[in-house]
Amino acid sequence: MSKTLVSLQDVSRTYSVREGFFSSVRRTVRALDGITLDLRENEILGLVGESGCGKSTLARIALGLEQPVSGRVLFRGNDISSLEPDEKKAFRQKAQMIFQDPFSSLNPKKTIYQTLKEPLKIHGLCPDRDYRGRVRELLAVAGLTDPGVEDRYPHEFSGGQRQRIGLARALATEPDFIIADEPTSALDVSIQAQIINLLLDLQEAKKLTYLFISHDLPVIQFVSNRVAVMYSGQLMELMPGSNFLSSGNGGSDVTALHPYTRYLLSAVPLPDPDRRKKKRKISWEQEIVAEPGGTIDSDKGKGCAFAPRCEKAKSVCFEARPRWRQIGEEHFVACYEVVD
Ligand SMILES: Nc1ncnc2c1ncn2[C@@H]1O[C@H](COP(=O)(O)OP(=O)(O)OP(=O)(O)O)[C@@H](O)[C@H]1O
Ligand SMILES: [Mg+2]
Repeated sequence: MSKTLVSLQDVSRTYSVREGFFSSVRRTVRALDGITLDLRENEILGLVGESGCGKSTLARIALGLEQPVSGRVLFRGNDISSLEPDEKKAFRQKAQMIFQDPFSSLNPKKTIYQTLKEPLKIHGLCPDRDYRGRVRELLAVAGLTDPGVEDRYPHEFSGGQRQRIGLARALATEPDFIIADEPTSALDVSIQAQIINLLLDLQEAKKLTYLFISHDLPVIQFVSNRVAVMYSGQLMELMPGSNFLSSGNGGSDVTALHPYTRYLLSAVPLPDPDRRKKKRKISWEQEIVAEPGGTIDSDKGKGCAFAPRCEKAKSVCFEARPRWRQIGEEHFVACYEVVD
């Protein structure tokens, strides 16, 4: 098994938010609630969970862009919050992010050349000072080869091309770890496929580790070695990525066992009439209709976050967090309902 690259250890993050625009009453939102998760070298870990469950917060904390209120993040065994300045710079170089909307993360006043030259200069990654040559090389790796492409501004590109620029910028620092936060959700299907294939090729060629966040479960299955399922700031299940989609109905070697994972998988529209019939019979799943907003109040942080919406919940589920248990090779779950 490959070595751990990034390790989140009991990481929690809260935000204090106002009840309403004119209200002075503040409420504590737990965006992350005791997350423990390792990413291995050269793996793609998919992260899924409904909107507001804390995926992007986890991404920012894993990159050191935000601090957890408790717990810690290790990169190659070192706590990223206590790095010396030069180590911090090295970490920033090795850990990069690709955003959903590359347009908002590209400076509209800078040409692509200026944008890509910056990290090369900061991290001293162009010893021969041939910045233009290196920028062209990076753009070519990302599939942008038109002559003079580097002298254009972000608004002169399509969404797919901008995502390629975002990727070129992430690659500029020669990273080991990339977090892709919904990298293709703003793109049409054919362009999505191109970008995903590009991401996979690069991962293989450069032995990268990805944390891949997406709402698109078929894409998650396609790219991920393992999939982590989150609900309201808590990890519910971690399992192999292969056959993730069919694991909800036992159509795989590994069966998804957490009620939330099963709900999530049952919501994927698959053209299978038998499956549809089966789904109709599972009444507790149909109870779950509305999006919860994915947050929990500070006074609700004791039990399983999913308990209020889970028909299988027992009183213990509201009182104490279920233990994170290994139930198979590469398979972990936090649920009292699941028995060994
Ligand atoms: N800076 C912030 N200030 C206050 N609340 C925040 C902040 N950032 C995130 N939150 C809250 O934390 C929770 C988790 O947000 P986050 O953006 O991590 O969710 P997400 O899983 O990435 O959602 P989506 O799938 O919609 O991108 C949400 O309730 C959100 O409102
Ligand atoms: Mg997000």
